[in-house]
Amino acid sequence: MSKIPFNISAADGAARTGEIVFPRGEIRTPAFMPVGTAATVKALTVDQVRQTGADVVLGNVYHLMLRPGAERVAALGGLHHFMRWQRPILTDSGGFQVMSLAALRKLDNDGVTFQSHIDGSTHRLTPERSVEIQRLLGADVTMQLDECVRLPASRDEVERAMRLSLDWAERSKAAFGDQEGRALFGIVQGGDVADLRRGSARGLVDIGFDGYAVGGLAVGEPQDVMLAMLEETVPELPADRPRYLMGVGTPDDILKSVSRGIDMFDCVMPTRAGRHGQAFTRFGKINLKNARFADDPRPLDEESDCPAARDYSRAYLHHLVKCGEILGMTLLSWNNISYYQRLMGGARAAIAERRFAAYAAACVEGWAKGLD
Ligand code: GUN
Repeated sequence: MSKIPFNISAADGAARTGEIVFPRGEIRTPAFMPVGTAATVKALTVDQVRQTGADVVLGNVYHLMLRPGAERVAALGGLHHFMRWQRPILTDSGGFQVMSLAALRKLDNDGVTFQSHIDGSTHRLTPERSVEIQRLLGADVTMQLDECVRLPASRDEVERAMRLSLDWAERSKAAFGDQEGRALFGIVQGGDVADLRRGSARGLVDIGFDGYAVGGLAVGEPQDVMLAMLEETVPELPADRPRYLMGVGTPDDILKSVSRGIDMFDCVMPTRAGRHGQAFTRFGKINLKNARFADDPRPLDEESDCPAARDYSRAYLHHLVKCGEILGMTLLSWNNISYYQRLMGGARAAIAERRFAAYAAACVEGWAKGLD
């Protein structure tokens, strides 16, 4: 397997900053990856996404295999060309979305058969097919197919899914082969059971991956359980490889995870919240539906370099949200991705200057203050 360079330039406690170097560009870490499920970061153009400072976006095997189809995307020149995003793309392997979205799913040791949530048609994903789909899409980072169990779950159920995911990790690696300039990540499972988390991480490290994701978290457990699982998992992972916490999270979850050694994050939260009238800011999460904004001529954050935060009044954003206007969703999604990127940029700078704890404390203080 060709090793993708991960240059760590500074560390502060367990937090580190650096860059993962792909032929299509670098990912500065700690990184937040906006979710572009169906070949679009919802409501935003790729130029807006890039303007926020994002280095990489996510795509989804589950959605893209159903619509428009992986072979079609490949025939049209690959996912980067199709969606006009020329920088790195990480694709999730599909298992997680099958479990949360598909109807009538049936899991066996070889793979999973499911019915599309769109038209009820039957499809099958195996570790090999998921890797093949990600190759057809042209993913810079391919994720192994895994099984994530919702918590709470019994130890037996968590262990079964963890062992199946390890077996699928091995098959994914064999199917991936040697793809120059592209990375394959394994996914740690093990629910909220410490020894299963450690066993999963060790098993993946024995197989050997370009990077290691921590899956199966933020699935119903409290934050302290999630953080405890990171503390069990991270020390088992190689220091010189990127670590990715899947599907997380709030700004607070992210900073606490960075301080425990996580390098990459993705979450639908900023874009989903933006489509529902909520803005993430330095002064916490704001609901623009609130009547207090109806006559407020000030922008969300005059110090932001994002036009959505700096150039539009709170009164106008409130009006757009109240009317259900598409532009309101665009502006708030733009603001939110921009805020997440600013949070990560601040984290990178703070780690480089070894003042990450003070940075995180200042962020928490700002969120508590609220918007005036
Ligand atoms: N996204 C959020 N959590 C998970 C997970 O456990 N596995 C995968 N494949 N994707 C995720």
